[in-house]
Amino acid sequence: MDIRFVKRDVLKEKPDQKHLGFGKYMTDYMFVMDWTKEDGWKDARIVPEGPISLEPACVTLHYAQETFEGMKAYRTAEGKIQLFRPEMNAKRMINSNARLCMPEFPVDMFVEAVKALVKVEADWVPSEPETSLYIRPFMFATEAALGVHMASAYKFMIICCPVGAYYAEGINPVKILVEDELVRAVKGGTGFTKCGGNYAGSILGQVKAEKLGYSQVLWLDGEHRKYVEEVGTMNIMFKIAGEIYTAPIEGTVLPGVTRDSMIHLLRDWGYKVNETRLSVDDLMKAGHDGTLEEVFGTGTAAVISPVGELRYKDDVVTINDFKIGELTQKLYDTLTGIQWGKLPDKYGWTVPVE
Ligand code: COI
Repeated sequence: MDIRFVKRDVLKEKPDQKHLGFGKYMTDYMFVMDWTKEDGWKDARIVPEGPISLEPACVTLHYAQETFEGMKAYRTAEGKIQLFRPEMNAKRMINSNARLCMPEFPVDMFVEAVKALVKVEADWVPSEPETSLYIRPFMFATEAALGVHMASAYKFMIICCPVGAYYAEGINPVKILVEDELVRAVKGGTGFTKCGGNYAGSILGQVKAEKLGYSQVLWLDGEHRKYVEEVGTMNIMFKIAGEIYTAPIEGTVLPGVTRDSMIHLLRDWGYKVNETRLSVDDLMKAGHDGTLEEVFGTGTAAVISPVGELRYKDDVVTINDFKIGELTQKLYDTLTGIQWGKLPDKYGWTVPVE
């Protein structure tokens, strides 16, 4: 793929790596490519990061025809830069786009574009412990037309930002509220896709949770409001009586890259991982009878996030005395060890950017 490069006159000042937070500082450049029905994908370019102009009638602004991905670039102790399973993100975007009737962005072009942008932005990949360069590929309809239909023009873009921990709590346990009224996804809907609309619909639950002092919402299935599915920005796993439980990928839950990696590690270590429906009643019961040993969220942004408290209606359970569990810590250390190149990558998950 030929990628045109438009240089910026003045580079941005880089933020203090010790106080990055999440998603606040965009890097100097962004990747852009356009799609039309007539020509397919064309004009790959890396240009100065900045505002883009859209027609007020742009389909995305009205009907939310938008999908995105979340991935990271990591700096190793030797100063090298590596990605983590980028092809999984590319394939997931293809699946998201198919559901939203958006054009396919081929896997090889996706990985090439990510690598090219990260290479240009190499100086932005932070080296402080627990930091990385968050990469946000996204695609949206650009056609100006108010009829509801598949649009005839799209943009694929990638922006990046150096990040620290997603949660203010860092690797310390978070409190999660089980949402019993609103729902996130139903079978046949868009729950398995990474589309902006899924997140827009979740914000009311998030606001409600924050008002009650909780970091995020644990969504129940949309049909019965009974089975635990996923948290606002991550998948979730439960260790009950020595076995791991997590919601199955059956159309409503996001197929997380970190989720899949954790399942690999856990099975390798001899754990039984049940990708089955778990009812919130059984979960709370396990919380009270002492068999709920650990709870942790998994996601690219959140990495591995221990859950210290769950609240469902008026019932509250504290998990592992609000301390990070032994297995959660081992998963965190192993995953981040591979990602930052501190541990050997026997799975072939890391991809160098050179
Ligand atoms: C990610 O983990 O990369 C995500 O996309 C979550 C995001 C909505 C903050």
